[in-house]
Amino acid sequence: MTASEGAAAATVKLKVPIPANGVDYRGKVVLAPMVRSGELPSRLLALHYGADLVWGPETVDHAMIGTTRSVNPSTGMVEYTKPPPNAQPSKKNPEAHKTPQLIYRLDPVRERGRLIFQIGTSDPDRAVAAARLVAADVAGIDVNAGCPKPFSTSGGMGAALLKTPDKLCAILRALVGSIVPEFQVGVSVKIRLLETPAETESLVRALCQTGITGLTIHCRTAPMRKTEPVKREQLKMIVDVCHMHGVACLINGDVAGRDEGMQLAREYGADGAMIATAAERNSSCFRAAEHGGMADWRELVEHYLRFAMEVDNKFGNTKYQLNILIPGREPLLKKMHTAPNYVAVCEALGYNSLVDQARVVDERLSISPEAKARKKAAKEAAIKEKDRQQQLLQNQEMKQQQQSNKRKFSDSSPTLRSTSPLSPPRKVLAEGEGNGNCNVAFGVSSQATPSATLV
Ligand SMILES: Cc1cc2nc3c(=O)[nH]c(=O)nc-3n(C[C@H](O)[C@H](O)[C@H](O)COP(=O)(O)O)c2cc1C
Repeated sequence: MTASEGAAAATVKLKVPIPANGVDYRGKVVLAPMVRSGELPSRLLALHYGADLVWGPETVDHAMIGTTRSVNPSTGMVEYTKPPPNAQPSKKNPEAHKTPQLIYRLDPVRERGRLIFQIGTSDPDRAVAAARLVAADVAGIDVNAGCPKPFSTSGGMGAALLKTPDKLCAILRALVGSIVPEFQVGVSVKIRLLETPAETESLVRALCQTGITGLTIHCRTAPMRKTEPVKREQLKMIVDVCHMHGVACLINGDVAGRDEGMQLAREYGADGAMIATAAERNSSCFRAAEHGGMADWRELVEHYLRFAMEVDNKFGNTKYQLNILIPGREPLLKKMHTAPNYVAVCEALGYNSLVDQARVVDERLSISPEAKARKKAAKEAAIKEKDRQQQLLQNQEMKQQQQSNKRKFSDSSPTLRSTSPLSPPRKVLAEGEGNGNCNVAFGVSSQATPSATLV
């Protein structure tokens, strides 16, 4: 950045206009996008403890395209589902072709105006097609250009986009050009540092010219592991470039909580902070010290369980998250590991007041002992029925084969045939009228042809 540009950034208070249904990232401490750890109950927990905005887990455009939106009548949650790919009913799961796959779930009330949908994409048209499906339900669309995991980069998505800045800018321009006017929500991007300040500056400058309203900088380069300490040397420059274009800038990487996030934002002139790992372990990090600060894990887990059950969260995901929320040395953790359903988890952890709610949810999710027994019985009945049908078919085929053999036999033995009342009417040929073909076909020599041949 030149000296005059720096001065301009300091004096001119530019701001990309925030669309009517969008949100301004300025002054916010937000929950980072996290695959698995950023499902709906975790986001509700973060909001409960004071997160200003929450990012959903990266959702790949291909997965989102083809989904159908519906409101779950039991929970009131908005769900985007699609049929499972190539699902065929099998012996193990006869209902496989009927079970819809849940791609994205959100709370239309508690997340209203506070949820950002993060998309994994490597193509402008697909990005728009996927974003269009969900844009009316969220407050912003964010593009993931920072995930270094092979499942993301191998498809040209995530951190791979940092190496193809033209493509990344084309994606952002396409989203800004169609999603902003159509749905009045903002578009943002989440990136990592490039190797040199000059490379990062050039990238940020290009991104800021696409019409985005916000940019999050994870202060690590793509090859850096999450255990390596963050680098904040380029931060001031990135913030200045963003502000020069009127784009809000959030700091990400090793932020421990709200107070530290706001302090770092002040120190670097940024607009706010984004928290992942610290929030994954204890979302009360979003609560300022003056409002109570960090909560005990027992309180946290009770809220988490309540939220998980309110939204019918997948039991496997709930257990995964509890494993992170409950401190490793807790003896209760072992008990929780073997719990097969919400009732067992609530009992194992001693949340007896949640057991009634757990019973209802277990029934809805078909993980209660009764539902499991019903499922097992239905599966066994389906298998029995399939076996019965197969047996029936085999019997039929056998009968047909027997009849056909009988007919062949009787055709070649006219004396036997004439006694059967079921035999079809046959034509009696005069001597010499038969051409012998039928006999040949039956494997009988023409010499054996009787004087009156039956066909
Ligand atoms: C479990 C987990 C899942 C993550 N999933 C995503 C993701 O879906 N999209 C993304 O942009 N970053 C993802 N990240 C990266 C975080 O958003 C964040 O950039 C990174 O962890 C650094 O922040 P922290 O130091 O506060 O953890 C994930 C991180 C974790 C720990």
